[in-house]
Amino acid sequence: MKKAFWKEAVVYQIYPRSFQDSNGDGIGDLQGIISRLDYLQKLGVDVVWLSPVYKSPNDDNGYDISDYEDIMDEFGTLKDWEELLAGLHERGIKLMMDLVINHSSDEHAWFAESRSSLDNPYRDYYIWRPGGPNGERPNNWSSVFSGPAWELDEATGEYYLHLFSRKQPDLNWENPQLREALYKMIAFWLDKGVDGLRMDVINMISKVEGLPSAHREGLAPGELAGGGEYFMNGPRVHEYLQEMNREVLSKYEVMTVGETPGASVEDAILYTAEDRQELQMVFQFEHMDVDSGPGGKWDVTPWSLKGLRDILHKWQVGLAERGWNSLYLNNHDQPRMVSRFGNDGEYRVLSAKMLATLLHTLKGTPYIYQGEEIGMTNVKFPVLEDYKDIEILNMYREKVTEGGAEHETILQAIHTKGRDNARTPMQWDASANAGFTQGAPWLKLNPNYQDINVEQALADPDSVFYYYQKLISLRKEHQIMAYGEYKLLLTEHEYIYAYTRTLDDEQWLILLNFSADPQPVDLPAELAAVTSIIIGNYPGEPDAASLATLRPYEARVYQIRL
Ligand code: NOJ
Repeated sequence: MKKAFWKEAVVYQIYPRSFQDSNGDGIGDLQGIISRLDYLQKLGVDVVWLSPVYKSPNDDNGYDISDYEDIMDEFGTLKDWEELLAGLHERGIKLMMDLVINHSSDEHAWFAESRSSLDNPYRDYYIWRPGGPNGERPNNWSSVFSGPAWELDEATGEYYLHLFSRKQPDLNWENPQLREALYKMIAFWLDKGVDGLRMDVINMISKVEGLPSAHREGLAPGELAGGGEYFMNGPRVHEYLQEMNREVLSKYEVMTVGETPGASVEDAILYTAEDRQELQMVFQFEHMDVDSGPGGKWDVTPWSLKGLRDILHKWQVGLAERGWNSLYLNNHDQPRMVSRFGNDGEYRVLSAKMLATLLHTLKGTPYIYQGEEIGMTNVKFPVLEDYKDIEILNMYREKVTEGGAEHETILQAIHTKGRDNARTPMQWDASANAGFTQGAPWLKLNPNYQDINVEQALADPDSVFYYYQKLISLRKEHQIMAYGEYKLLLTEHEYIYAYTRTLDDEQWLILLNFSADPQPVDLPAELAAVTSIIIGNYPGEPDAASLATLRPYEARVYQIRL
């Protein structure tokens, strides 16, 4: 396997709105991030991925861009951005920007032109369709943020497609001028020295011709359905990505990761196999659905280690020869990993470290989401009014206000799965508003900031922070973490995820207990010949004899004598 920087790197995601406010308006900003660069350097990360900082009316917190070549007023100016880039580079950290090009904001100049008349030169930058004979919508697709994916626009009497909110009209990738304009915009940022791109829902850019209605058993007339089969991994997506590569990416050194909901292992190979010149890696979503029932994300069902492991294992094996994995258990769209897959009570610190061990010892590039490195947890706001996320608010309206579902049931689902779990402000210290802002925060803090915060973590040598720091520095010393071959052990164990990584004459054994009970480990005899412990999440050195049992949420990484 070819070596590459991006295979050896660790990425840290910043959600700028919630990271650090510098001017007291309650909203995180670029100067705030600049003031925390030494912290990121101390952690040791190689790349920072910034969620969108472009001009935006913030219907979806920056994922609705009204000017791709300028900075959002609340976050600062292009000059601040340049200062941030320089500050990162001085510290040897690369910058990955978020590229949101499946859709723009409806306040983008292109859309203002496009909607103005049927023959405007920008008309075809977006996806317009006339209604049916009785004014019906062009098809039955639902939007990801609830309700129909079509909005009737008065100016011309036609509908436009928006797979997300009605303020996020989908761009029409069939139009070569649009594609050229996007490539030009990408070059604008790469010329400024951007090192990487995270591409938002990039596997949705090509829609099936004719935009057919989704067919589902038992669908009532007029009922909406997610039409994913007609726009996820669509017919021309690989052609477009290869074109983007040819036209712009290949002219720079650039790290790329595509967000690809609904992508299978086979799709991911097509996106990431090196000879195909598309992307370096993708964010797959299968493991994020391990606690979703037949009703989807909000139909919360218990998950099992077996379910999670089967998926991660499938991806490890599937991309072993061609393609590359990205490794994540949370981000700005997902609940906090320690609350979801670990234990955010008694075993918060241990289980956060155990999950970190998983993320940094599977094969792939690890992504840390802000606050994960101090074990931040989900939040349970008592009233709906405390929530700000458009996905949560629209879903609540559809299910409770209009659909008659139980308030309590839906609030519980929000507590478990809502995106605002990840978006509560970063917890820096125990002072008012956790040192995030001097003003009124745009989203309430998690009240546990008095106990869980960066200041506390930096003062405690056994903190989650220092464990991450160690995992990251181990990656610098041991190529096996990036390149070692993965092999699953204890394939049927209910609570232990165990595997080896092997590179040349070196082998590591990774043992992870996903339960709050001690678990006996029955390893093949040859693996019992451990030589030394590389890292473990319990204080003190576990001796080789203790290999027989893993304590609650214990994680151990051993070197094996081959
Ligand atoms: C995925 C992003 O991560 C999410 O935050 C956003 O709402 C949608 N794409 C739409 O851009």
